Amino acid sequence: MSPTFEPLPFPPSLEASRFQEFGREVKGIHPRDILTDPESFRKMEDALYRHGILLFRGFTLTPEEQYDIVKAFDTSAEQYGHGNDHEKATKTVLHSYLNTIPRVPQVQVIGHGTVRNHEGLEEVKLKHGHHKTFHRTQIPLEDEEKFGATRFFRWHMDAALYNFDPPKVTALYGIRVPQGPEQVVWYGDGSGDELAVPLGTTAFVSGKTMFDILPDEWKSFAVRARARYAPHPFEWIRNAKAVSTGFGIVSEGLETPFTELSPWEEQKRKTYPFLWKNPVTGNLHFQVHPMTITDIFVDPLPSHITERKGKYPEGGHIADLKEIRAILHEMQRPGIAPNLVYPHPWYVLDLSSVGGNSGGAN
Ligand SMILES: [Fe+2]
Repeated sequence: MSPTFEPLPFPPSLEASRFQEFGREVKGIHPRDILTDPESFRKMEDALYRHGILLFRGFTLTPEEQYDIVKAFDTSAEQYGHGNDHEKATKTVLHSYLNTIPRVPQVQVIGHGTVRNHEGLEEVKLKHGHHKTFHRTQIPLEDEEKFGATRFFRWHMDAALYNFDPPKVTALYGIRVPQGPEQVVWYGDGSGDELAVPLGTTAFVSGKTMFDILPDEWKSFAVRARARYAPHPFEWIRNAKAVSTGFGIVSEGLETPFTELSPWEEQKRKTYPFLWKNPVTGNLHFQVHPMTITDIFVDPLPSHITERKGKYPEGGHIADLKEIRAILHEMQRPGIAPNLVYPHPWYVLDLSSVGGNSGGAN
């Protein structure tokens, strides 16, 4: 039977006209069967580039298969995207994501609460970040209880941004799903924006839409700009606090000085263009991690353009964190507006393959 690709059921909050190509549920094939059927795999790879997220619902999968599926899309994937040196990683803001399945260290167990006898792990206490541990301001406890108010914890793309290049594909597999009433995300930035979300959601935005909705002058800037990231970026921000939307860091000098980080090498730092070009659709997608960036390099407008106007027409190097964060806020905040966020409702045995760094928050 050949696979079919069906649109995801979107919540009413989502501006469906902008998301016609975003996300598909794959039916008619077990995800593991793409490993042995080249024709199905080819269709799957094409669909992942076209739609950003593929959902397989209701299939059981071993950690080995989960890793093999990622590897099928990205043959260079040898390890977890942040590496497997967990001793080092305990110094970072990612330490709660580092419960490795012993047989398949490329797969991590994430969640909240105690898990026993899971794939060779006798007992692990999972702790999911709560915004009160990471945001500069907090929602009062009584509002959390009364309104189910919550926040996006940390918007990101899946990437180590030091030493390792970003993965092409991430596979998330839902095993247990919290049950309970919806929560409501309060953006808390004076916009009045809020978004109803299912419990334990992963929220996705489209890097393509984030770029598409930019005014022309910022589009011109984006095609000319590159982002450089800090050495050990998640160690660098370990004491810093996030803004209330979970999309960026408050500039108050709490980043760890480079001289106090674990030993690092300049050539292992990463610099990436603001945009990547989708090889299947030709579309441009935004891909900047707003929390860990330290520099923006902008090329000048091409010399044949006589009207030298817009943003940084002669190019430049921006190294002031406040300025960088203000620029990114202007470019990226519109892309996480409530009508542009897809909060995925997890079901047991959901496998979501996320390609090409659509941004996510949890
Ligand atoms: Fe992620």
